[in-house]
Amino acid sequence: MVCGGFPFDAARRKVVITDLEHNAVALPFIEAARAGRIELAICPTDEGRLDLDRLASLLDDRTALLAITHASNVMGGVVPVAEAAKLARRKGIKVFVDDAQYLGTHREDVSTLGADFVAFSAHKLGGPFGVGVLWGHETELNRLGTWKLGGGTVKSVSWDLKSAPEPVYLDAPGRFEAGVQNFGGAIGLSEALKVREALPAGPLRAHVGGLVRRLAEGLAKLDAVRVLGRVEDLAQGSLVTFAAAHEDFSPVDFNLFLNHELPGRFIAIRVGEHCAHLQHRRLGVDATARASLGAYNTAAEVDLFVDAARAYAQEACGG
Ligand SMILES: Cc1ncc(COP(=O)(O)O)c(C=O)c1O
Repeated sequence: MVCGGFPFDAARRKVVITDLEHNAVALPFIEAARAGRIELAICPTDEGRLDLDRLASLLDDRTALLAITHASNVMGGVVPVAEAAKLARRKGIKVFVDDAQYLGTHREDVSTLGADFVAFSAHKLGGPFGVGVLWGHETELNRLGTWKLGGGTVKSVSWDLKSAPEPVYLDAPGRFEAGVQNFGGAIGLSEALKVREALPAGPLRAHVGGLVRRLAEGLAKLDAVRVLGRVEDLAQGSLVTFAAAHEDFSPVDFNLFLNHELPGRFIAIRVGEHCAHLQHRRLGVDATARASLGAYNTAAEVDLFVDAARAYAQEACGG
């Protein structure tokens, strides 16, 4: 919605993203660049760390928008988006923040974040699929062009195309909500938010951060895998991703092992490129394995996971 509707002009048509972006953010801008609508710059990161000086060097007078994730769904940790937004705003650049991964175990105060737009998805908060939120300053939302057209988006449409060629669209959010809405999804999201709000923020972070640290440290002891990122960064987030460090360690087979080979247990992880192809090209690997942690997980489960990884590594790689 933001990429398609943003009012780029000839003087300011550059967009800066990072190599941590999920395809939900990266692809619309990559396609807009391929179509010649924008100029795109991708800021490289190092082990998931964003170098603010490097970012600043890309934010120039031609830049219209910075689109940046608050937490990578591959590298974990937390990206310093408030600092990045400060750099952008100094140059009159609008800021879009992807909070999809961040909001699972963090709270957000948009009044201090410095973003013009913030988006997140219900399914990353335990809510239903296919529904999410785009928050924005009212004036910025109303500067966006329409996204999908249909019923419930327009104030007036003229029969006479010559005298009034342009339909007049509703103010946000109506102009973005074509057709009958996913009301069930919205109610499900609202319920997921209530559950989330009942969890005290500080203890939730301490619990998840502790589990992440335990998991990263446990996996780091196994020769067959390489944990991505540094433990102190990972502990700020809610996930640990690892790549094979031995040619016979297959993330895909490991996933099957977790699903079928643990007596009385089924552990769900995600393997593959996690819709983050830019970061996987940067890492130079086709597939990684990611374990995500939440309020409901325990230290005993983390230990069980590390034991399972050790058992699989022994079986697959021998010793
Ligand atoms: C960091 C991040 N951004 C964006 C998304 C995409 O959300 P959606 O598929 O709802 O567009 C996800 C995951 O689903 C994500 O992890």
